[in-house]
Amino acid sequence: MSNTITHRILLLGSGGREHAIALQLNKSKKCSHLFIGPGNAGTATCGENVPLNPLDFVEVRDFVLRESITMVVVGPEEPLVKGIWDFFRADAALQHVLLIGPSAAGAILEGSKAWAKQFMQRYHIPTAQYKEFTAATLSDGLAYLANHPLPIVLKADGLAAGKGVVICTSVKEAQLEFSEMLGGKFGGASATVVVEAFLSGIEFSVFVLTDGKNYKILPEAKDYKRIGEGDTGPNTGGMGAVSPVPFADAAMWNKVEERIIIPTVNGLKKEKIPYVGFIFFGLIVVEGEPFVIEYNCRMGDPETEVVMPRLKSDLVALLHACATGKLKRMTVKQDKRTATTVMLVSKGYPGTYEKGKEISGLDEIKGSIVLHAGTKTQGDAVISNGGRVIAVTSFGKDIPSALRKSYRNARKIKFDGRYFRRDIGKDLM
Ligand code: AMP
Ligand code: GLY
Repeated sequence: MSNTITHRILLLGSGGREHAIALQLNKSKKCSHLFIGPGNAGTATCGENVPLNPLDFVEVRDFVLRESITMVVVGPEEPLVKGIWDFFRADAALQHVLLIGPSAAGAILEGSKAWAKQFMQRYHIPTAQYKEFTAATLSDGLAYLANHPLPIVLKADGLAAGKGVVICTSVKEAQLEFSEMLGGKFGGASATVVVEAFLSGIEFSVFVLTDGKNYKILPEAKDYKRIGEGDTGPNTGGMGAVSPVPFADAAMWNKVEERIIIPTVNGLKKEKIPYVGFIFFGLIVVEGEPFVIEYNCRMGDPETEVVMPRLKSDLVALLHACATGKLKRMTVKQDKRTATTVMLVSKGYPGTYEKGKEISGLDEIKGSIVLHAGTKTQGDAVISNGGRVIAVTSFGKDIPSALRKSYRNARKIKFDGRYFRRDIGKDLM
């Protein structure tokens, strides 16, 4: 990218991931103006929030043209799976706009778990054994479950707001859940159900940026998905994260790159699937071997809250190179320090919870980065506006020193019903 090119950027989304991305975009000299649609109280401090609905492509288009936006960065998966890239490509007035995110044909890696499993089979990418069923093959499915080793993993094929994966510990439970899914428990998202073997191991998340031909590896992270300490209770979007991941050593990276990243990027290329943006590989390591649990077509949340702070290269330059097919010549520099994040959530999350709680203590934070996940401003106050409210990210020379800062500052931020896990990163120490 020529040093003189700058971008007027629109970032779509409103979570902690977007706040972490917004900070990096705003830091770049190549960003002349940053809008976040719709954003949150945190993104308002590093750019201009605009009341856009990322799923209303016509509204996004009109804003892009009105504000002479030259780069659109798509944070969440839903607009991608629903085809925002294709919408932009099909519109003559938007041809000059660089959109960071895959086509619908690429986002299907996340949008259809059955498609992703078939893709992995085609390219011999290691993943759990599986079979897929629809209402037409319900009885075959019930019979298949009856002979399946326990536990059994059931996955709604489509997007189900993070709730579409159920791990069943008995055949009876699996058959009931399976019938409910095919009966429309998640609407169209569970019209196809993937039945998958359970893999026992340790998970971590790998991220690459790709221009469809080449890729660059970003810092990896480990996420803590369950609501309760000791990895108990229901799954959430993620309660905290750590980067780098100590067990992701050179030997592991070799396997991940050779067996997973390269075949994935080459597979997309071979199938002529336009893909400009992030690929998130949710991996599990079983007896030293990495397997793909899932693909996502976007960055992770809260992983981004530790990945982006560790990125030392200019994010706008990287994204520009990505969207213009010139990623190969770029380098990604990583901060060697450890970053940790602890997520403060609303009481009741991931079930029902109340919003609108006033947040105090934000001015007292020293030595951490406060990343807003679900907040908004109300007059002079910042109030909660989601289940996940604020992520507290810190750097340290190692995991314990980073965590000490995250926890010291997390305790200072208060709102009615605030909860956070006290054991983030403990399994890695
Ligand atoms: P997903 O919604 O695909 O991210 O899955 C949610 C979580 O379910 C994953 O992070 C894993 O912890 C778990 N999971 C999914 N598939 C498997 C599997 N085959 N074996 C063990 N755990 C799994
Ligand atoms: N933290 C997991 C995800 O973003 O899907």
